[in-house]
Amino acid sequence: MTHAALLKAHFNSVTAENEMKFESLQRTENNFTYDAADRIVNFAVENNMKIRGHALVWHSQNPSWLFSNGAGGTVSRDVLQSRMRNHISNVVRHFRGKVYAWDVVNEAIMEDGSYRSGSLADGQRSRWHEILGEGYIAQAFRYAHEADPDAKLFYNDFYNYIPAKQQGIYNMLKGLLDQGVPVHGVGLQAHFNIEPSTVSTNQAYYQHVANLEEAIKLYSSLGLEVQVTELDVSLYIPGVTYNASTFYTAATFTDELKAKQAARYREFFELFRRYRSAITGVTFWGIADDNTWLSEFSSGRKDFPLLFDDDHNPKPAFDAVMDF
Ligand code: XIL
Repeated sequence: MTHAALLKAHFNSVTAENEMKFESLQRTENNFTYDAADRIVNFAVENNMKIRGHALVWHSQNPSWLFSNGAGGTVSRDVLQSRMRNHISNVVRHFRGKVYAWDVVNEAIMEDGSYRSGSLADGQRSRWHEILGEGYIAQAFRYAHEADPDAKLFYNDFYNYIPAKQQGIYNMLKGLLDQGVPVHGVGLQAHFNIEPSTVSTNQAYYQHVANLEEAIKLYSSLGLEVQVTELDVSLYIPGVTYNASTFYTAATFTDELKAKQAARYREFFELFRRYRSAITGVTFWGIADDNTWLSEFSSGRKDFPLLFDDDHNPKPAFDAVMDF
């Protein structure tokens, strides 16, 4: 089967973006629900696909009971630690032998290189850090390793092209390795845009190939594997204001724009190939443009960030990525 035919046959309604998150797997305490995740995992196993698990410990998409003491207050440190261990052990054991790599901790470092703490705005703050302190990161990796000693364990984050953030991630990883914590790799989420921002205060001002290259060099200098874990290339440029009249549609996603997106994909893949000895995987955050987290259907802002179009046919970006 061609790629496109395989997609048409199987991926019409499958997403694997949320099914392994805490709130999906343990909506109420100690009741693990694996059906949705198992369907995807079994499909992948039957089709000889490798599976990355995403994500064990994250500040987002957690059930409300997790950080609660059940009496209107905050969970104690000891109880949260044992909840973390219970979750990681159960989930990692369930998928043992099928999931070869885990995003153990997701998004623990901020754009300025500091730890994501409990004092940020709702939705941004990490209650893991607030209650357990930064030691939660080392513990999560230890628990995951204990549950599956063969799994490759990753730290995963976004905006790795920002110099201060990549340095913060590097420092954290170096500290973990110095303590003997079982961390094997770094995931670069790689949610990119069709061009960097020209606004110097915008995170995407740093979204240049050369800056991402620095991150790859830094992390791999620690002996860690690097994987691109959530790749997509949005048509929207951060720092530019869009409205209903400038949101992209099939009609305004012109051939010229398709070629520009393909060129952006190409430049990043040229980088990935130059670092082929360090980069052990590239995973996209979706398959085709009809199903992407970047399309905000409530506002009507549709995006076209992936390699296959709304009808599941390959785009110029696909050809650019395959041409080497
Ligand atoms: C996103 C999913 O794609 C959405 O469906 C969901 O509503 C929110 O989460 N970084 C991550 C992913 O690590 O888990 C996020 O996935 C995208 C950003």
